[in-house]
Amino acid sequence: MKLRVIVTLCALFTITQQVFSQDKCTCELTNSEKAFPHDKLSTVEGNASKCNSNITPQKTLELEILLLGLERRLPQLQEDVSMLEREDDGDLYAVLSLYVIENELMEIKQLIDRLNSTTKAHQGLTADTTKQLEDLSAEMQELQTYDTMQVVKRLEDNHRLKRDLDQCKNGFHPTIQPTQPPHSKCPHGEFQNITGPRVYTAGEYPGSYKYGAWGRDPKPEAGKESWYWLVMLTSSNRYANYIRLYSSLSSLIVGLSIPGNVQIHSSNPATNTIQGPNIVLYGEALYYNCYNLDAVCRFNLTTKTITNLQLPKGTRFNSKGNFCHLEECYPFTDLDLATDESGVWVIYTTSQDFGNLVLSKVEEDEPMTLGQTWHTSVYKQGVTNTFMACGVLYATRYVNKTMEEIFYAFDTTTGVERFNVGVFINKMSPNIYSLNYSPVDQMLHAYCDSFMVSYKVLFW
Ligand SMILES: *[C@@H]1O[C@H](CO)[C@@H](O)[C@H](O)[C@H]1NC(C)=O
Ligand SMILES: *[C@@H]1O[C@H](CO)[C@@H](O)[C@H](O)[C@H]1NC(C)=O
Ligand SMILES: *[C@@H]1O[C@H](CO)[C@@H](O)[C@H](O)[C@H]1NC(C)=O
Ligand SMILES: *[C@@H]1O[C@H](CO)[C@@H](O)[C@H](O)[C@H]1NC(C)=O
Ligand SMILES: *[C@@H]1O[C@H](CO)[C@@H](O)[C@H](O)[C@H]1NC(C)=O
Repeated sequence: MKLRVIVTLCALFTITQQVFSQDKCTCELTNSEKAFPHDKLSTVEGNASKCNSNITPQKTLELEILLLGLERRLPQLQEDVSMLEREDDGDLYAVLSLYVIENELMEIKQLIDRLNSTTKAHQGLTADTTKQLEDLSAEMQELQTYDTMQVVKRLEDNHRLKRDLDQCKNGFHPTIQPTQPPHSKCPHGEFQNITGPRVYTAGEYPGSYKYGAWGRDPKPEAGKESWYWLVMLTSSNRYANYIRLYSSLSSLIVGLSIPGNVQIHSSNPATNTIQGPNIVLYGEALYYNCYNLDAVCRFNLTTKTITNLQLPKGTRFNSKGNFCHLEECYPFTDLDLATDESGVWVIYTTSQDFGNLVLSKVEEDEPMTLGQTWHTSVYKQGVTNTFMACGVLYATRYVNKTMEEIFYAFDTTTGVERFNVGVFINKMSPNIYSLNYSPVDQMLHAYCDSFMVSYKVLFW
């Protein structure tokens, strides 16, 4: 035994000696791969986070605030000028008013200058960021060729699994909601906030019709891209029989309706005329609650024909399933039609849903059909209005005379409900009778106590 060990050691010694005798000991480990450039990855990482911190919604808000400021100053100037005109006693203008106006003009000039420099900075930032993003993307693609061990891919897989797991957990415990909604497919990003009022007008019939709806056709005929529409409930605050068209926003504001009215029926109300204010125009057709029916009516503006879409049995109608707040319910708001990037939707409630909101896609084919339906757990009488944006249903509630809150969201792609959206709408009048999202310009159009108001929706 001992001998054998000695023999082996001797043999080893010999080999080593042989190697030494050649005076060379090379141990070559050849890696067919290039070394991973860790430093490069960390600069890319650094540059990406720099990019992120450069672009913030704050930058966009800055612009919004300046624009809003300008919007407020201009009517003031107009008022001052008209005061000056009233004070004009022949040849002598009131010196005082001239001073006031000079001041106004100076402030407006300052606003415009700031707007100019902000816009410039934005343009610079955008160009800069685009270049940086292109560089980053090229770098990342290059770095990915090093990923022979599939590390990045695994990490991505893990990330996906973790997200699925989180979603699964939340499904089992609906009270623990994620603070951020899962990413849904929206071309503009995540719904974040809304601006203050961007349009506020009494329109052509100031104060005449308390209930109505207005907006833009998201899928207009060629040449009608800038058109606006208005429907006022002209009979008993409940019914309407025509839609009024304007060729631009300014025509709507000054009340100049060149195309005029398109009539659904000569009487109001009559079979298949409009009942309730939550109306939308989509693809040159008006969608609304048909008079005295639990059905959606579609009025084709081109052919002047009407088709119906019957809603499920048990659908509440004729003011039995309204939007409400503590002090009142809004009459004949049983059916709320809505538009978003994907088309037309109808929001309603049924007896079998115990008054909770139900959402259905309206398939706009000929004939109209009811598409997929979702059942929510939000009680309709605790909601004042709803709108759709990017396949997500949003609901509002009344806070007080000046504030409305977008408090609830239901994502149709994930089925996730949130009760903590917490975005406030600055109201110009106490009651919002209709509210709809325009996917062409991401504006929210509201009709409130005869005023037309719009807000810009901010995504990120
Ligand atoms: C990171 O940014 C710096 C300066 O902005 C630039 O010189 C560098 O090329 C960028 N690196 C990568 C990897 O994009
Ligand atoms: C904006 O600023 C540039 C200089 O930075 C100036 O040439 C231009 O006239 C300004 N535009 C307005 C509308 O003030
Ligand atoms: C939304 O915008 C308003 C100003 O318009 C601001 O006061 C508020 O903090 C913003 N909310 C969020 C969640 O960013
Ligand atoms: C309106 O009618 C015209 C002519 O039949 C048709 O081409 C168009 O698709 C209809 N619009 C809608 C929304 O049904
Ligand atoms: C309305 O509610 C908002 C938010 O709670 C509050 O800031 C505001 O002061 C209230 N306004 C009135 C008139 O009560």
